[in-house]
Amino acid sequence: MSASDPVRNARPVTIVGTGSYLPERVLTNHDLEKMVETSDEWIRTRTGISERHIARDDEASSDMATEAARRAMRNAGVTPEEADLIVVATITPDMFFPNTACFVQDRLGARNAYCMDLSAACSGFLYGMDAARALIAEGSVRTALVIGAEKLSCITDWRDRATCVLFGDGAGAVVMRRADAGRGIMASHMGSDGALAELLNLPGGGSRNPASPATLDRRLHYMKMTGNEVFKHAVRYMCDAGQKALQRCGMTIDDVDWVIPHQANMRIISAIASRLGDCMDKFIVNLDRVGNLSAASVPVCLDEAARGGKLKKGDIVLFVAFGGGFTWGATVMEW
Ligand code: ACO
Repeated sequence: MSASDPVRNARPVTIVGTGSYLPERVLTNHDLEKMVETSDEWIRTRTGISERHIARDDEASSDMATEAARRAMRNAGVTPEEADLIVVATITPDMFFPNTACFVQDRLGARNAYCMDLSAACSGFLYGMDAARALIAEGSVRTALVIGAEKLSCITDWRDRATCVLFGDGAGAVVMRRADAGRGIMASHMGSDGALAELLNLPGGGSRNPASPATLDRRLHYMKMTGNEVFKHAVRYMCDAGQKALQRCGMTIDDVDWVIPHQANMRIISAIASRLGDCMDKFIVNLDRVGNLSAASVPVCLDEAARGGKLKKGDIVLFVAFGGGFTWGATVMEW
């Protein structure tokens, strides 16, 4: 590691509180059997998912984000007025604009924060943490709220059995500040490859294919995915990012206590564990109960692990994520 490495030279930044929110309604695989031609057995063996939470019609991403943020701030002992920055990572914003973070700010009464959304699909939360870490280390932000929030049910094609069984709704949040003690966030590695955008996207409703009766007819307002291709890239890039982030802080997988991966598919998670070094026992998984939550996936799993007492002070945690774009990232931190 060179002496000029910005991550190592910055004062450590850490997570001081976590929170999450899952909508009340649960959609099981058996419910899905009544909606499309599928089976509980197929979904569980191919994906590892048994059920997922689905937001109410009147519940938007900002509503879930606000509740997750409230819980994270309560956990951190931070008041809304103390937040200088709110980042909401999402591919299901309430609207194109204003950004979802502005709605969250208003609901929280976090009037001193500046607010932005971040669009990097399932990697969005790790990208958001990386940006917040840099701003806190540099000194312009003291307290950041980083939230991953998704209402994927509203961009899911409920007639397409290849995708509708995978996704759920929810939100997770962290409060970030400079660390009083410990090493906090130690290293990250982020990457993207826009050449592979075709494999996973939502083509309609933007400036390329503005909303029209024709785009609605062609169901372009729903996610499109070439699942098996996404699968291969997800394994490759999450392993690679994890290894690079660990290398940056002079660690190997043996130094890691817990891996919190983006929860897309149990077979993707198992493949990463075996490639990183036969370490499935270090992986924290909640996919079976929540499905793929895109940007909310990592923070919801993190909050459950933190509240459940799994993470102990001083534990080394590796986060890895991969999503549409393609985008990917990994972050190593001392809990
Ligand atoms: N129920 C029953 N049969 C199904 C279903 C279903 N829900 N979905 C697809 N099938 C059928 C297909 O039609 C196909 O039938 P055929 O052989 O007669 O053509 C067969 O099952 C196999 O389909 P594949 O797509 O090859 O199945 P695969 O084993 O690749 O699993 C899956 C599909 C689960 C989508 C997998 O590719 C995957 O998880 N990919 C990763 C994608 C992902 O998680 N994306 C989320 C966003 S990106 C991210 O978060 C990383």
